[in-house]
Order: sequence, then structure tokens, then C-alpha cells
Amino acid sequence: MKRTKIKAALAATGPMDEIVIKGWVRTKRDSKGFSFLELNDGSGLLNIQAVVDHTPEIEAALARIGTGASVCVTGALVESPGKGQKWEIRGRGLEVLGEADQETFPLQKKRHSDEFLRTIAHLRPRTNKYGAMFRIRSELAQAIHKFFADKGFFYIHTPIITGSDCEGAGEMFRVTSLEPGSTESADKDFFGKPAQLTVSGQLSAEMFALSLGDVYTFGPTFRAENSNTPRHVAEFWMIEPEMAFADLADNMDLGEEMIKYLVTHILDNCPDDVDLFAKWVDKDLMPTLENILKEPFKRLPYTEAIDILKNAKKEFEYPVEWGMDLQTEHERFLCEEQFKKPVYVHDYPKVIKPFYMRLNDDGRTVAAMDCLVPRIGELIGGSQREERLDMLLARMQEMRLHEEDYWWYLDSRRFGTAPHAGFGMGFERMLMLVTGVANIRDVMPFPRTPNSLEF
Ligand code: 4AD
Ligand code: MG
Repeated sequence: MKRTKIKAALAATGPMDEIVIKGWVRTKRDSKGFSFLELNDGSGLLNIQAVVDHTPEIEAALARIGTGASVCVTGALVESPGKGQKWEIRGRGLEVLGEADQETFPLQKKRHSDEFLRTIAHLRPRTNKYGAMFRIRSELAQAIHKFFADKGFFYIHTPIITGSDCEGAGEMFRVTSLEPGSTESADKDFFGKPAQLTVSGQLSAEMFALSLGDVYTFGPTFRAENSNTPRHVAEFWMIEPEMAFADLADNMDLGEEMIKYLVTHILDNCPDDVDLFAKWVDKDLMPTLENILKEPFKRLPYTEAIDILKNAKKEFEYPVEWGMDLQTEHERFLCEEQFKKPVYVHDYPKVIKPFYMRLNDDGRTVAAMDCLVPRIGELIGGSQREERLDMLLARMQEMRLHEEDYWWYLDSRRFGTAPHAGFGMGFERMLMLVTGVANIRDVMPFPRTPNSLEF
């Protein structure tokens, strides 16, 4: 007989004479003549309870299992007399699939700290919190594809290995090849050419926007910045829409629509899992999410943002001056204290932004925007792109970028150039927003940070 997933069993519309459940034991309680097993198979947050009578075979199986063991229970699905659950299993058969030594199995019934669980990232998805996290992560990824598919955007796969530095920040990992059979780097380049791991798929996506209209990428990106913050990792996933015939306002509209869509989707589709975060992780989660949905986001020119920060009755660690890049403390002040909702800061000084952003008529700012959200700061960074060849070349010269390296990129401005705009959203930061989890290490299966290359 085929197994039924626990989530489906708990949603049954009537009792069943025969059911097979496979899962991991969360708890085992023995009574006189029978035992209770709480089982979870990862399909949902809720456990199913199995009640098994003490036959000799079942007693032999019970003696081998404790928290963490995997089992197969066969029996009937019956209405549960206990409160809080509609259905339970009356077990007739109990098979041990895999034992878990109680002396060494690290996940016991008590609550473990996030710091401890990071040291066993390979086992933490077996806990309630991380099971919920990774189900939400999966749902969020699907929702992103659905959002774009419904709007007629095409999904483009841009390369991971690249020869160009999109952001021009020099924070790239080098790719080398190994001698066959060796683990020592032979300092070999990519077939004789220097190559890196991509920091962004944007430049490639622009080529496709200027061909297919509306496109997006969604894939892993890499940053070799050695920063140890709760918001930065060396490997993260980024969603990058790019739209032809669009300007900065269209870009901000899309980002706002997308954030609201994703929050709504997760609230509608993951109620149990979100509830866990709202109850146990962040008491402020629901009000924050409702606030995001309620009103239009604030749109604030950078120059006005600087004035607000200068006049704020608050001591910042980094002094505020026109021309500076906003730090997380400034970003959070704007969206958490000043406006109490997401804020788009736009039209930043050109000197702090990459070469591809469109120069404004004032000659000193570019059509850039960052979307700042409560508790996180920057969630989205994007811009209208410089579509005018002469302006782009002048900017590249100013920044000492070599035209030859970008010949293909420049071709898009030579042949049928058009206004276009796009942005990048950090997938993990979006996940932090919808779960209230404060550390990016806790929204990724196996985070890559300066101290973590294990697993
Ligand atoms: O602002 P960033 O660097 O923008 C770009 O890479 C553009 N090329 C995107 C585009 O216009 N297509 O990164 C975009 C977003 C940030 O707002 C942030 O959410 C996330 O990516 N991000 C990181 N997330 C985790 N760890 C890091 N080290 C991140 N760096 C950026
Ligand atoms: Mg940015």
C-alpha cells in the first residue's frame, strides 16, 4: 500500500480502514498496554498521533525507537478523542525504518537555540521551526514564478560563470579548475581566461528585455564581501526582473506589486507555518505584514531622505551627508520610525552607483531606487538603465571601465536601444520579511558565510 502524507491524512474528510504513514518520531509515550507516537513527515507543521497496542512484535519495535527514529505505521485513520486534532491512527503494525541513538541524536524535545541549530544545519529541517521555514521558502519561490508568469514575463537563465563584473564593486569569487584527481587548485583559469561567479544576472537580462520585452531571472548569485552581518551572505538567490519600454516609476510599481503579492500569497497558502513564526518568533510579524499590504509605499527622493536624516533627533553611528550611501541604521530609521512602512528612496548620487544607471537631467543623480522595508533595510535595489550610448560610454570612461569588455552590452545601445528598467530582490531578505526571522543564516538551508563552508 502507498503511504499517505500526514498533511493529507489530517485533512481527511472521513475515517479510513487502511492507511500507511511513514515519518519521524517526535515523541513516544508509553502507557499500560499501549503507546502514543507523535509522527511528522515534513509535509506540514502538524504531527499525527498514532496509538499502538502492545503486541509482542510492536513492543519489540517500540523498544528500538525514540525521538528521531523513522517508522512506518499501518492501521486505521479514526476520529481522535483528544482535543486539538481531528484524526489519529489506530496502529496495527509498526515497522522501524531507521533507529536514532538517543545518546547521540542532537535534537531532543526541548527548544534549541538558533545558534546551536546552525551547527547542525543538516538536521535542523527536522524541527518545527525550520520545517516551517523551508516549506515557506519553497512556496515563496513558486509564488515568484507565478507572479511573473501571470504578468507575461519570460524566465531567463543567465550564466553563473561570467567574465564581467556587473556591479563593478570587485567583490567576486574567482573560478579556477583543478588538476584531474587533485583537490589542489592548479591556478587554472576558465580555459585560459579569467572567470568569476556572477554577482548579478542583470547585464544578461537586459539583453533579453531588449528582445523579449519583460523578463526575469531567479538564481544564485555570489558576493566575496567579508561582512559578518545578519543580512549578508556570500551566496544568495536573487530575483531580477527587467522590462523594456519602462522607466523608474514603472520599476517601483512592479516592485511594490510584487512584494504585496508575495506577502499575500504566503499568508494565504502557508497559514500554519506563518502562525508558528507569528506566535514564537516575532510577535510583531502580523502587524508588520498587514502594514505592508495596507498602504502605498512611500516614495522619497534621496536628497529629501538626507534632509530627514540630518534633522532626525537620533544619534547615528555613521554621520549623514549628501553623497553618502545609506547605512542600514539610516534605512531602518526611514521605514521603521519616520514612515512606518516600506520606503522607496530614489535618485541617488551617481558617484555611489554602478555605471549602468541612467543619468538624471541634474547631472549628479541617477534614476536609481532602493526599496527599504522594516527590520531589514534594503530589500530591492534597481534602476532605469542608461539607454543612450554616448552617455553610457562617457560614464564608463569616468569609471575606467574598458569598452572592449562590454562590447556586447554596448551593442544593445547601438542597435535599437530603448528605455528599460529593472531591479534585484534578495530572495533571502524577502523570506526574512515574511517570517520575521532576524538572521539571514536561518532562512537558508546551508548558509555560506566567511565561517561556514560545512555541510
Ligand atoms: O543592490 P544589489 O547589489 O543590486 C544588483 O545586484 C543589481 N544588479 C540588481 C538589478 O538591478 N538587477 O542587490 C540586489 C539585492 C539587494 O537589495 C539585497 O536584497 C540582495 O540583493 N543582496 C544580498 N542578499 C544577501 N546577501 C548579500 N550579500 C546581498 N547583497 C545584495
Ligand atoms: Mg543595493
